[in-house]
Amino acid sequence: MSVTPDVGEHVSDEETIFSISEGHLDSGLRGIPVGTCRTSYVDTIDGVHYVGYPVGDLANLEEEDVIFLLMHKRLPDSDESAEFRKELAYRGERMPTGALRVLEHLTPGSGHPMDWLSIGIMAMGAAETTGDVRVDSMNLIARMPELMARIFLLRGGNPEKLRPRNTELGLVENFVHMLGVDADEAERMNRVLRFFFILHMDHGGGNLSTFSGKAVASGWASVYASLSSAMNALSGPLHGRANQACLEFIQRIGTSDPDEIEQFVRAELAAKRPIYGFGHGVLRAEDPRAKLLIELGSEVCPDDEYYKIAKALREVVPPILKEHPKISNPYPNVDLASGSLLHAIGFRKPNYYTTFFGWARVAGICAQILDERNARGGRGVPIYRPKYIAKDQPHRRLD
Ligand code: MLT
Repeated sequence: MSVTPDVGEHVSDEETIFSISEGHLDSGLRGIPVGTCRTSYVDTIDGVHYVGYPVGDLANLEEEDVIFLLMHKRLPDSDESAEFRKELAYRGERMPTGALRVLEHLTPGSGHPMDWLSIGIMAMGAAETTGDVRVDSMNLIARMPELMARIFLLRGGNPEKLRPRNTELGLVENFVHMLGVDADEAERMNRVLRFFFILHMDHGGGNLSTFSGKAVASGWASVYASLSSAMNALSGPLHGRANQACLEFIQRIGTSDPDEIEQFVRAELAAKRPIYGFGHGVLRAEDPRAKLLIELGSEVCPDDEYYKIAKALREVVPPILKEHPKISNPYPNVDLASGSLLHAIGFRKPNYYTTFFGWARVAGICAQILDERNARGGRGVPIYRPKYIAKDQPHRRLD
């Protein structure tokens, strides 16, 4: 069977770039082109590139400059960089008073931290939404460090530790400062979190959280409603929550001995349980972000037990997965080492890890929403409305 696309006003006699067959149906839209993306693309071998730059080239820049890149499609010069940081500081400073008070009424330890993230974003939107996509995006990006710090300390039952924001610091540094961390510990956290933050900012247009956020935004919902939806999409274990699952997996393994790891992995496969930290929907080689994080680990925590396990998994697992012809990508993904690094720098609870992923992705998703809203000479992309084909629904009438 083949299906004629029904894409309304876009139907034309232009060159066919993809044809859809029955096998594509109910496949999670896998590989089906649905739009264009100006912020990033994912090469199946070389991984994600932000506006053309391999992410590894950007990993040691200031996080604000990478956000500027995603929004403006070029890196800033030094004046623009200073101006952009100033704007973020200004907007971060003007968080509406009491915007996050709702978090004080949630029970510490309740729900998942991703629930808190989504609620917090909605609360900020309820406190102030301008309706201007750029302004709302910049406000959200600027205020995320404070939301993150409040989630960590309020949900963790330590509200008294929260320090007043210092928006003159960079986004990541401000978060670490608000947590009450200082000196060497803060320096290590800043180094790892900024790197992590840049690596996770964007991953093309079709990953579930970005796609969901853009779909909601296409109906002209607010930036806050769109991003909160995106964070909910990210919270599933098949998407962002895989970084939590991966550290929990490493904790269960409990040894960096290659033979014991091999035994463990084979037993998991035999029991049909997932092997976390490997495989990807798009990539067909090792995710360069995995390699970059492993390299960062050798700099910041070479002797950490969980890091050593992640490193050993990277060697031991691919040959085992390659024995299974159905596994199209037996290579490490970004989640393999990220949890062990976060643990090593002091974040001991894996259930918080996806909030870091979400925080980072806010910038990429906002930039993509802005691009979609500016498309077609400012008319924006049309509201998302893919077609579903009726199945098992014979025509019926009540007698
Ligand atoms: C990722 O960062 O790897 C993603 O968001 C997952 C994907 O691209 O589908």
